[in-house]
Amino acid sequence: ALRGSFARKAQKPNQSSHHGLQLQASYKVAILGAAGGIGQPLALLIKMSPLISALNLYDIANVKGVAADLSHCNTPSQVLDFTGASELGNCLKGVNVVVIPAGVPRKPGMTRDDLFNINANIVKTLVEAVADNCPDAFIHVISNPVNSTVPIAAEVLKQKGVYDPKKLFGVTTLDVVRANTFVAEKKNLKLIDVDVPVIGGHAGITILPLLSKMKPSVRFSDEEVEQLTIRIQNAGTEVVEAKAGAGSATLSMAYAAARFVESSLRALDGDGDVYECSFVQSDLTDLPFFASRVKLGRKGIEAMIPSDLQGLSEYEEKALEALKPELKASIEKGIAFAQKQP
Ligand code: NAD
Ligand code: LMR
Repeated sequence: ALRGSFARKAQKPNQSSHHGLQLQASYKVAILGAAGGIGQPLALLIKMSPLISALNLYDIANVKGVAADLSHCNTPSQVLDFTGASELGNCLKGVNVVVIPAGVPRKPGMTRDDLFNINANIVKTLVEAVADNCPDAFIHVISNPVNSTVPIAAEVLKQKGVYDPKKLFGVTTLDVVRANTFVAEKKNLKLIDVDVPVIGGHAGITILPLLSKMKPSVRFSDEEVEQLTIRIQNAGTEVVEAKAGAGSATLSMAYAAARFVESSLRALDGDGDVYECSFVQSDLTDLPFFASRVKLGRKGIEAMIPSDLQGLSEYEEKALEALKPELKASIEKGIAFAQKQP
């Protein structure tokens, strides 16, 4: 289940914005790519959060109608629309969290890396604007290939002199959401209790669920571990094939991204017990970026959890070694792209 204030009941009348009594709503969130398949349901889910005072929606087209529609929901946040490059700066001013689902999705037969040529440029341009307008914001990168777009974002922020590795996140929450769902289904567990850490990256074999580290602690046969791991690694492709050319996961992705936004806002708000998996700059392995559980606080990542990578099963140890070359290559491809740009 989604955690945090998301799941709370409707607000009491005296918490509404009509009387200026915005007891909790104080954070500004921007979505870049807000008119897309992920952007629209994500905007709706975020609009439900009582922690948010402003929801800025940016896209290159079709965002006016989305914002007009959403703005009629009687929740606290004010919804504004921004269209095209000339309005991007205004969209980002004063924003606490920027979510980036802009870019093209896969069609059947494609890998996430096949999206690199188009999405690398989109992410680069958008992160440049983030650096110029809200360098202190938490940045949530959804656009694929995440294994490369996050290193691109880091390089762009470095070039602009505003890189804070504690505030740049590749969104891998959907891998955790899927792992929780599939494991609960297979083992007949109550979903609310299930939490599977997923480490590595966000493509194929770089996605590594740690079934030995899940809560509650559950026994799996070798065959079950293999089946579940492969299903979690291929879950994105499962959706791409089912959609048969109409795109990739959007609704489950929006759900997962909303959870990550909610966790970030709770951390910003001073909640001292916020943990999420994310693809971040990392020294837990010999790779410069790696997804693992991180503790979130007011200033972004407050702590890494090195013990999560200790005491892995033999299967997980092998899978971890096997994923490193592909993940390394994707990271280096992103860095090289950003460094060769003028
Ligand atoms: P979509 O095509 O439905 O929507 C993308 C939106 O981005 C469109 O509205 C488009 O106009 C907009 N866009 C394009 N160029 C832009 C630019 N320069 N500035 C701002 N907006 C721009 O695609 P989608 O299904 O929403 O997927 C978006 C991305 O998210 C894809 O790259 C997809 O692979 C990725 N994705 C990641 C995960 C994850 O787990 N991290 C999960 C699902 C999808
Ligand atoms: C996913 O995992 O669903 C996304 O990365 C989209 C995709 O291309 O599979």
